[in-house]
Amino acid sequence: MNQVLEAILSRRSIRKFTDDPVSKEDVSAVLEAGRWAPSGLNNQPWRFALIKDRAALEALSRLTRYEDVVLSAALCIAVFYHTASGYNRDKDILGIGACIQNMMLAAHSLSLGAAWLGEILNKKSDVNALLGLDDSYELLAVLALGHPDERPGSERRPMKELLVRSIG
Ligand SMILES: Cc1cc2nc3c(=O)[nH]c(=O)nc-3n(C[C@H](O)[C@H](O)[C@H](O)COP(=O)(O)O)c2cc1C
Repeated sequence: MNQVLEAILSRRSIRKFTDDPVSKEDVSAVLEAGRWAPSGLNNQPWRFALIKDRAALEALSRLTRYEDVVLSAALCIAVFYHTASGYNRDKDILGIGACIQNMMLAAHSLSLGAAWLGEILNKKSDVNALLGLDDSYELLAVLALGHPDERPGSERRPMKELLVRSIG
């Protein structure tokens, strides 16, 4: 199987990490993969905040029930929708989904693990306050990143349930 397909199929959400740090080069490579995601009109409405400081990670962990995941991570990347750069909310958010998936796959390709945390969106404004960002930045996800300390499995619905029409 080619490497892209292999990476897509073998990536799993990692929620438990070792204490090993993640190199600056690897963090840059993950962000770079996000930067090159497709977006409508190529408007690139994503923005990133890096959280590596332990005290800041602890404060972030208090804003989610996935506290243990945040505390275990070497760092977190908060991903924002920069509304001033947007042109169509649906399309902008889909583009940011592609950006996040690019980063997840880049992390996996570097033997890092990542968890896409969505539940923390219940505390969007608290995350902005913690990071000193105004409300032109709308939190869409937090990625917890680190070296994997687990090998979880996962399941998917069968293709026959997903393919609702095949004409011709
Ligand atoms: C929009 C979105 C929100 C998610 N939110 C969370 C979350 O808050 N906490 C968490 O542990 N995993 C979260 N996940 C990860 C999913 O649980 C995971 O992708 C799914 O169970 C499939 O497992 P896999 O990624 O290992 O294949 C989220 C994933 C997406 C795409």
